[in-house]
Amino acid sequence: MAEHIQVTRALFDEVMVPNYAPAPIIPVRGQGSRVWDQAGREYVDFAGGIAVNALGHCHPALVSALKEQADKLWHLSNVMTNEPAIRLAQKLVDSTFAEKVYFANSGAEANEAALKLARRWALDNFGAQKQQIISFGKSFHGRTFFTVTVGGQAAYSDGFGPKPGAIDHAEYNNLESLKALMSDNTCAVILEPVQGEGGIIPGEVAFLQGVRDLCNQFNALMIYDEVQSGVGRTGKLYAYMHSNVVPDILTTAKSLGGGFPVGAMLTTTAIASHLKVGTHGSTYGGNPLACAVAEAALDTINQPAVLNGVLEREQLFRRELAAINEKHNVFSTVRGQGMLLGAVLNDEFKGRSRDFFLAAADQGLFALVAGPDVVRFAPSLVIPEADIIEGMKRFEKAVAQVKQG
Ligand SMILES: Cc1ncc(COP(=O)(O)O)c(C=O)c1O
Repeated sequence: MAEHIQVTRALFDEVMVPNYAPAPIIPVRGQGSRVWDQAGREYVDFAGGIAVNALGHCHPALVSALKEQADKLWHLSNVMTNEPAIRLAQKLVDSTFAEKVYFANSGAEANEAALKLARRWALDNFGAQKQQIISFGKSFHGRTFFTVTVGGQAAYSDGFGPKPGAIDHAEYNNLESLKALMSDNTCAVILEPVQGEGGIIPGEVAFLQGVRDLCNQFNALMIYDEVQSGVGRTGKLYAYMHSNVVPDILTTAKSLGGGFPVGAMLTTTAIASHLKVGTHGSTYGGNPLACAVAEAALDTINQPAVLNGVLEREQLFRRELAAINEKHNVFSTVRGQGMLLGAVLNDEFKGRSRDFFLAAADQGLFALVAGPDVVRFAPSLVIPEADIIEGMKRFEKAVAQVKQG
């Protein structure tokens, strides 16, 4: 038996690298959209582990898939394939534009694969001059050095030595700014169809279509980062399905495993053919445990009743937030789609999203921020109506607490 250690939040600061500043409580148990901390206090979860726990905590279908696989086979690495990985890939192919799948362990790794594939595709087809990758201000694509450099916040990539080159940034929802950067040397444009970390900013359909057209015009690949928006979160399996804009490569993670780490890159056969044997890989990518859980998550989420339920819950969230705002006047707007919503703080409360996050935790609610000006909600896609109502009661108290100062 492992030696018993008294676990406290203070111990975190002693033994952990200080790159995070977690809340003062330590959750120990979750069920559906409720979580309990060490002291037995109960919380409503509107955060979903940052848009990950798409089916809440300990959903029976996921627990059973995990337990079943745990008794069969945990890990092989990619010198052998396995049944759950092939089944999950088949289901992703059947339900999207994609014909091929690459498995990773996180969103950043899925994007890393997408960016490397785009560069290799361009090299093979057009030559070494076609290297330029364009992304957008405020975008977030992960924390590996390549993805953080591609991301739209230089502060996250500064201070680590020479950055990967040939990366430019345009302004999101501004087609002209993209047009000004594009040329025959553009290899790929990467974007989130709804910017998440940047403040829950939906891409306008005309903008997304315009990006597609420019990519076609300059023979560049269009990469959709659906790490946050994917797997039902916006009310469709993937956000691209709301419009006629279809990317060449799509990355997915977060909700894909419902809490078990897994990511994937989806693409066409023609593009995939440029990642030949040995060009890229991962020890854990396609791990049987991860894929078994993800398969159960996909089976559960990719149902009309669940996806339509996301849009119904969005309406309830919006009604409740509007009622709170009517009383307290703290937001200028609520934006986003499905269970990925951002309440934008008005001028009086600008820069104070973390105060709302902390007050919410005080009142028994997990919320999120998306930058300094936006309070973000990314709960379970199947959060019960009663939990939304109760969570909003607590959020109203949190808003009142912030207002009182
Ligand atoms: C759009 C997007 N891409 C990539 C990532 C990185 O994913 P991960 O933290 O799993 O590496 C995130 C994480 O927030 C994200 O929101």
